[in-house]
Amino acid sequence: MPTFEELPPFLRNDAVGLARASDLLREGGIVALPTETVYGLAANALDEQAVRRIFAAKGRPLIDPLIVHVASLEEVGQIAELSPLLEKLVGHFWPGPLTVVLRKKENVPGLVTAGMGTVAVRLPAHPVMREVLRRSGCFLAAPSANPFGYVSPTCAQHVRDSLGHKVPWILDGGLCQHGLESTIIHLTEAAGVRLLRPGPVSPEALQDVLGVSVSVTHVAKTASSLAPGMLERHYSPRTQLILRCEGEAPVPPHTSGREAVVWLRRPDDAAGSETYGRARFWLSEDGSLEEAGRNVFALLRCLDNGDFTAVHMELTTGLGLGAAINDRLRRAAARGG
Ligand code: TXA
Ligand code: MG
Repeated sequence: MPTFEELPPFLRNDAVGLARASDLLREGGIVALPTETVYGLAANALDEQAVRRIFAAKGRPLIDPLIVHVASLEEVGQIAELSPLLEKLVGHFWPGPLTVVLRKKENVPGLVTAGMGTVAVRLPAHPVMREVLRRSGCFLAAPSANPFGYVSPTCAQHVRDSLGHKVPWILDGGLCQHGLESTIIHLTEAAGVRLLRPGPVSPEALQDVLGVSVSVTHVAKTASSLAPGMLERHYSPRTQLILRCEGEAPVPPHTSGREAVVWLRRPDDAAGSETYGRARFWLSEDGSLEEAGRNVFALLRCLDNGDFTAVHMELTTGLGLGAAINDRLRRAAARGG
């Protein structure tokens, strides 16, 4: 087994790197790739053996189905039943950070969908991912490129840090634009339109375009049949994470300096720096939720590599993108399960 130092260099976002990644995928390999949300760990979705490699590398249970990425709306019809609602969404949110769960067609292996009759599909916007989809000619199954249950990766180095030799091929496309995984909705008639995972596309924006209400499924303590991957505990750093509401007073001053304190926006009181010293962080300069969303996983990873005994973090108000940020933070802070 190669050591960490012997890993091949990152594949570059150039003609050679794109061709290599596409060849590897066509040949049944797994490659980590950038998307506009987080880095994904991709394989040919119609090649069961290749998909098995994703589960093995992540240590992901087989009951948790994968998202299939496609290059065009026409391709969706090859693996899933199209829905008139989906056609309304295209152009507004596709290509982009929205995943739709549709009735699947027979060619999609049961391994991809955890044996369910539905498949999750996304048309990503990231130019690198789109180019690899086009060159490889594959439908690409791709979960986030992190060990199961750990914090998602928002740059190539995160993938290497946490998956190491399990994924030697990582295509480096820089930092992810959103830093949070796609919004997932269930779009089969039986269930109506349901939000399964909050993300960059808000339920309000979906409702405006669809003209129907979007119901919200609460995160299950254990996997439910509609949303098998929505576990209460997920995205978990090793370091204890303690949440507080926006604007609530930060933790009592401590003396050890081994507890980090994270604000949503840069705190303007100079006194904070005396109290918390170098254990003082913020997700955004001015409280921008887009900036906070982009930084939250990276900061959790960074603090997890420090020698902090606990991290105290401020929740957002939960409005707009704040719902997705709070969802990730609550699951990252959950213990047990
Ligand atoms: O932004 C994203 O969605 C990223 C990038 C790489 O595209 N991918 C991602 O994949 O977040 P993953 O596997 O980490 O999360 C996918 C979620 C899981 O919770 C899974 O259970 C759910 O989607 N899912 C997949 N297929 C499903 C289905 N047929 N029905 C319900 N949930 C499904
Ligand atoms: Mg994930």
